[in-house]
Amino acid sequence: MGEVRTVGVVGLGAMGAGIAQLCVEAGVDTVGREVTADLGETARDRIGHFLTRKVEKGQLEQAARDEAVGRLTLTTELDAFADCDLVIEAIVEELGPKQELFAELDRICRPDAVLATNTSALSVTEIASATTRPERVVGMHFFNPAPLMPLVEIVRAELTADEPFETAFTFGGRIGKTPIRCHDTPGFVVNRVLIPLLNDCIRVLDESRVTPEDLDTGMKNGAGWPMGPCELIDLVGIDIHVHASEALYEALREPRMAAPPRLVRMAQAGLLGRKTKRGFYTYD
Ligand code: CAA
Repeated sequence: MGEVRTVGVVGLGAMGAGIAQLCVEAGVDTVGREVTADLGETARDRIGHFLTRKVEKGQLEQAARDEAVGRLTLTTELDAFADCDLVIEAIVEELGPKQELFAELDRICRPDAVLATNTSALSVTEIASATTRPERVVGMHFFNPAPLMPLVEIVRAELTADEPFETAFTFGGRIGKTPIRCHDTPGFVVNRVLIPLLNDCIRVLDESRVTPEDLDTGMKNGAGWPMGPCELIDLVGIDIHVHASEALYEALREPRMAAPPRLVRMAQAGLLGRKTKRGFYTYD
């Protein structure tokens, strides 16, 4: 395939909206799909808001901002991806719905399209197995918040062919990210290290009876972290973190991977972090 001209993004939650924002800012026509028109509009507003902030801060021209927002087409139908060169999936982190979606995309998308998943802890190979073209399925794992975090992990699944893998790698660079190549092992590179590390931090909360505020102050000022672990888990979402921990524990059976009980209880209670305005901290 030549240059990627049109991208589809499936799921416009925090990650999908961030990915769509990167694409339109890079001048790429982007089709964004949500299950309802209202959810699509919410995502467009979110993207518009962050681009307006860039204008206000002198980082972007007003005309460029308007053109970028104009490159996003919203849809509720997967059929709208029929002409896309690359489709990036960012829906719920569950294997069943992802496999169903990839089977549908396989039916709808052009044979030469690249199908990418933003999964953070599931197997790209298992997701790809739902299609008749696993050689054209890759992982493109962005970090939260996608517009601000430079990294994207380009994940080669068992059957991924070179050309779609390199297409995804090149595209990651084109939208301003720093891509790295990795294989489809549990947690890929960063989460393999970060998830058990954050779990250790939460266990320290209980063991040493330090407060979340002091733990965050400690890691920011003693280890140079840009955010403390409690702030970071609130940002990522406590449910997302627990889910990723469970997937890694399931795959690797290392005790440090298992979600700490405190986080499981918080998730059960609906204390999910920033998105519910309550986690370790409360938000307005
Ligand atoms: N989308 C788009 N733009 C955003 C944004 C978002 N979600 N959030 C903020 N911005 C924009 C805003 O316009 C903001 O400016 P204003 O406040 O003036 O409007 C601008 O970005 C800068 O925001 P901040 O002032 O908050 O930026 P900062 O300098 O404090 O840095 C940070 C923020 C980059 C998030 C930094 O704190 C950081 O690096 N934190 C660590 C984050 C991290 O580790 N993420 C990885 C999580 S793990 C993961 O994602 C893997 C997984 O699979 C779960």
